[in-house]
Amino acid sequence: MAKLEVAFSPDLYPFYENKEAIVVVIDVFRATSAICTAFENGVKAIIPVEKVEEAKAYQEKGFIVAAERQGKIVEGFNLGNSPFHYMNKNLFGKEVVLTTTNGTRAISVAKNSHQIIVGSFLNLTAICNYLKNEKRDVLLLCAGWRGRFNLEDSLFAGAVVNELSGDFFNELSDSALAAQTFYEVGKNDIGNFLINSSHRRRLKNLNLEKDINYCLQFDQTKVVPILEGSRLIPVK
Ligand code: MLT
Repeated sequence: MAKLEVAFSPDLYPFYENKEAIVVVIDVFRATSAICTAFENGVKAIIPVEKVEEAKAYQEKGFIVAAERQGKIVEGFNLGNSPFHYMNKNLFGKEVVLTTTNGTRAISVAKNSHQIIVGSFLNLTAICNYLKNEKRDVLLLCAGWRGRFNLEDSLFAGAVVNELSGDFFNELSDSALAAQTFYEVGKNDIGNFLINSSHRRRLKNLNLEKDINYCLQFDQTKVVPILEGSRLIPVK
């Protein structure tokens, strides 16, 4: 029987660390939604980096680099992490380096796990099918906001728990049960469930309502982004 756990923030990761687990990194608003969208639109690979300095070093070497902090594109860069930035023919077949406030940090903290994959509502069914086939421990790692809990990533973790519970994962941990409870409450109208969530308000104040609505769509792609070495690559 495999373990299914949820770390509600990257700062909780050490308590759940499991070298045998597949870690699903979740940053619904917006990093992991943007990554799924990039691959659906033909980006070849994404190199996630934790720090803006690392991103700058890649930029100096001529890489295409996206950098976001506090929901805004970092000065000196042309790309951020709006999913709409990746619906761009010029990025087709290209590699993109990406740093974001929380999402790429979550990827970085989990690097010693068996495998890292990237999840969002946009590829919910695809990642659940992948995890069902792999039949091993799963840790759902919420990117949160600067080490804190957030509602949208926890809600999505609950959607995954809901799909995976049963057969293979039949003894749920308390963290998985808590996430599943969120999803039970919110599933009929996830937009409304998240209406007062803090990052939704932050993005709304930046006039990014369009991004919010996009990120809350289910199953827009069959892509499963998987970290191989330092690169995320798309698997279908
Ligand atoms: C992050 O990685 O923290 C987010 O994607 C922030 C954002 O929405 O820009």
